[in-house]
Amino acid sequence: MESKRISAAEMAVQKEYIQKIAEKMPKSRPLAFVETYGCQQNVSDSEKIKGMLSQMGYGFCERTEDADLVLYNTCAVRENAELRVFGNIGALKHQKRRKPELKIILCGCMMQQEHIAKAIRQKYPHVDLVFGTHALYRFPELLYQVMEEDARIFDVKNEDGSIFEEIDYHRDPKPLAKIPIMYGCNNFCTYCIVPYVRGRERSRDAEDILREVQEVADLGYREVMLLGQNVNSYGNDRKDGMDFATLLQKVCKVDGIERVRFMTSHPKDLSDALIDVMAEEEKICKQLHLPVQSGSNRILGLMNRKYTKEDYLHLVSKVKAKMPEIVLTTDIIVGFPGETDADFEETLQILKEVEYDTIFSFIYSKRVGTPAAEMPDVMDEEQKHRNFDRMLSVQNEISKRKNDAYVGTVQTVLAEGVSKNNPDTLTGRTEGGKVVNFAAPDSLIGEFVKVKITKSQTWSLFGEWIKER
Ligand code: SAH
Ligand code: SF4
Ligand code: F3S
Repeated sequence: MESKRISAAEMAVQKEYIQKIAEKMPKSRPLAFVETYGCQQNVSDSEKIKGMLSQMGYGFCERTEDADLVLYNTCAVRENAELRVFGNIGALKHQKRRKPELKIILCGCMMQQEHIAKAIRQKYPHVDLVFGTHALYRFPELLYQVMEEDARIFDVKNEDGSIFEEIDYHRDPKPLAKIPIMYGCNNFCTYCIVPYVRGRERSRDAEDILREVQEVADLGYREVMLLGQNVNSYGNDRKDGMDFATLLQKVCKVDGIERVRFMTSHPKDLSDALIDVMAEEEKICKQLHLPVQSGSNRILGLMNRKYTKEDYLHLVSKVKAKMPEIVLTTDIIVGFPGETDADFEETLQILKEVEYDTIFSFIYSKRVGTPAAEMPDVMDEEQKHRNFDRMLSVQNEISKRKNDAYVGTVQTVLAEGVSKNNPDTLTGRTEGGKVVNFAAPDSLIGEFVKVKITKSQTWSLFGEWIKER
C-alpha cells in the first residue's frame, strides 16, 4: 500500500464521527444544500461529501431557504468563480440571522489559499466551517466539532496531498459515473493555481479504481469518466509499473461498462501507446480533450507548457491518422501576460488548422502566488475581450460546420435524462460526446438508442429516435 493513502484506522475514526452525528440527528430529517463549482474533480469530491452527509442522516434540497446546512465546494481557477462564492455567502447572512442553527460550510480549492481563508475569517463571521482540499477526509470530525463546541473552525493547513478510500459516494444518477484515478498536479503551468491548492500528483491503486468501476457497473452505470488533472501521468508516482494505457485496458474489460472517457490529457504526455489503446479498444470513446492554451511558441514557453505549436500539431496529426472520426476539444487562454495581437493570430491559426469540435476559452485571470501574476502585461482588457469575441466567432463557424456533417447520419446515443430546455425530449451523447436532443419516452433513460440526426446547431444536435433497436 502506498503511504499517501489515509490509513483504514484513520478512516474508521471518521466513520465513528459520522455515527456520532447520526445519533444526534433530530427525527425530522434535516436538509443539506450542496453547490459545487469548478471541474469534474470537484464534482466527484462533492459526491463523497454528499455520501458522508447522507450517512449522517441529511437529506438534500435544491434551495438554500430550505436548508439546515449549506455547503459550497469552491474553485479557485479564475476570479469569477471566486466572486460568485463571495456573493453567495454574503447573501446567506440574513438567513443565518433568521435561523441561527443553520450551518454554513465552505470547502474546496479556493479555501486552500491563505488570503481567502483570512478574508472569510475576518469579513464573514456567519460562516461556521472552512476546510481545504487536504482536509476533505476529516469533514465528519470537523462538522462534529462545529456542532459540539458551537465554535468556528478553520482547517486549511497546507499538507502533502493524500488519497482516501472507504467512503461511499452519493453519486449523480445513472448512467454516467465519475471515477477519479489521481489527484493533484505537478506541472506548474505559470498561470494556474491548481498545483498550489491540490498538491502533488498521486495516483490511486489500480485495484481500488477497478473495484469502483465494477461497483458502478453492478449498480447499472453504463459509462465511466476517468478523472485527473493530467491522466497521462497516471502511475508515475507508483512503483507497480502501472501506467494510464494499461489501466485503460483493464477498465475496458469490466463487464457492464460500455463507454469509457477520460479527462484531462496534457499534450506533453500523450504517448503513442495511449493513442494505440484508444484506437484499438472499442469501449474507449473517440473523443479527446487536448488543451493547447495558445498557438504561439513564445507564449507556450512563458506558460511552461513544455511543448511547441509544432509538437502539438504533430500529435494531433498522429491522433487523426489513427482515429479519423475523433472528436477533438481544447482549452484556450486569451490575454496571457505579454500576449500580443501577433501571438493571438497564431492561436486563431491553430483553431483553423486543427478544426476542433468545441473549444473552452477563458480570458486570463491573475492568480495570487503564481509566476504569471508577476509577468508584465501589454494588452488592455478591451482588446483582450475583442480578441476573445473574434475567436468565438471563428470557432462557432467551425463547430457549426462540423455539426452539420452529422445531419442525416444515425448515431448511437446513451440517453442521459430529460432535456433541460424541453421537458418533452431526452438528451444524451454520441460516442464523440456530442449532445443530441430527441423525443422518446423517459423509460429509455440509461439506454443506448439509435437516433437519426435531423438538425444541427453550434453546440448540439437534434434527431429522431429510431424505434427498432
Ligand atoms: N488540468 C487541466 C485543466 C486545468 S483547469 C489541464 O491542464 O488542461 C482548466 C482550464 O482552465 C485550463 O486548461 C486553462 O485553460 C484554464 N485556466 C487555468 N488557469 C487559468 C487562469 N489563471 N486564467 C484563465 N484560465 C485559466
Ligand atoms: Fe493547471 Fe497545468 Fe496542472 Fe492543468 S496541467 S492543472 S493547467 S498546472
Ligand atoms: Fe477549480 Fe480546483 Fe478544479 S481550482 S478547476 S475545482 S481542481
